[in-house]
Amino acid sequence: GKGAYPHYMLKEVDEQPAVMRRLLNEYVTADGQIKINADLLTALEAADRLYIVAAGTSYHAGLIGKTLFEKLAKKPVEVHVASEFGYHMPLLSAKPFFIFLTQSGETADSRQVLVQTNQMGYPSLTITNSQGSTLSREADHTLLLHAGPEIAVASTKAYTAQIAVELFLAVALGRHQEQAVALEFDVNHELTLVATGMEAVLSDKDQIEALVKHYLATTRNAFYIGRGTDYALSLEAALKLKEISYIQAEGFAAGELKHGTIALIEDGTPVLAFLMDQSTIDHTRGNLQEVTARGAQTFTIVSDAFAQPTDQIVLPQVNPLLTALVGVVPAQLIAYYASLQRGLDVDQPRNLAKSVTVE
Ligand code: M6R
Repeated sequence: GKGAYPHYMLKEVDEQPAVMRRLLNEYVTADGQIKINADLLTALEAADRLYIVAAGTSYHAGLIGKTLFEKLAKKPVEVHVASEFGYHMPLLSAKPFFIFLTQSGETADSRQVLVQTNQMGYPSLTITNSQGSTLSREADHTLLLHAGPEIAVASTKAYTAQIAVELFLAVALGRHQEQAVALEFDVNHELTLVATGMEAVLSDKDQIEALVKHYLATTRNAFYIGRGTDYALSLEAALKLKEISYIQAEGFAAGELKHGTIALIEDGTPVLAFLMDQSTIDHTRGNLQEVTARGAQTFTIVSDAFAQPTDQIVLPQVNPLLTALVGVVPAQLIAYYASLQRGLDVDQPRNLAKSVTVE
């Protein structure tokens, strides 16, 4: 049950630091070894390219995973929306390996791709929260999310758990291939910092509630912008907001706005920016000035080290590869309070089911 919580979503958002610690217990020894089956690592090493296939929030977790695999294991990755990939399969590399990300393990769009890749004889892994689920049974390998049941339609702790499991896999694969950056990556330390960073955000919900009241009370639309993994996170932040507050929210690559979409900015349009990717923060701040000049109300979510006095939400510093894990928490809370303040059904938004079992 949801215990003392008014909604499952809030409970599940709050559980995320505990899920990070539980995952460390499940996957990482005290001295930092990663407990992943050698057969799986050998199969991944043999692949020349990883194909991550998923839907919705899981797809967004895959976008973060791409960066992790490419940086920590030097393995090229493509990330695909399952419903597109199944019907318009791109030209595949010579030795593909398929990773299915699915909280439920039952998403029909993802399953129809697995059925095809099995027919083609390609190796596969399902990363899921549900042991014994269809996609788990039908793939060669399974890694569990250990997030506990996720009841709210809006996926929250599954997203952060998926990124953590992708991290374990990327570090283990990188080490298997003797990549220095993976050998040196201190998973216990970095993920513990993430858990405490999440706790810091979660301990100041009132601030976020007040900001939502100020910036999003009556708006019909909003933009999230960012670059690099901040862009990938913008897509997830916008999906959360759309799904439960019905605000028409768009996640956008900050530099792409001026190529057309900036025409939508009017007096008062909320533009929320993630500023955690060090190499592009100044550019994104420049994009914020462009939209401010056209009337936008801007709102920033920024890592401590880069914060300026006018920033709204300041996040504790974590490893640059893991910023989405902490950055998503305010976005989840923004969606939650926007839904709540509009009197909507937070856990069961209109038109949606928890698990989408039709193609
Ligand atoms: O169970 P899955 O991870 O395969 O589900 C995929 C999507 O249907 C799911 O993430 C959906 O987008 C959520 N409602 C988003 O909050």
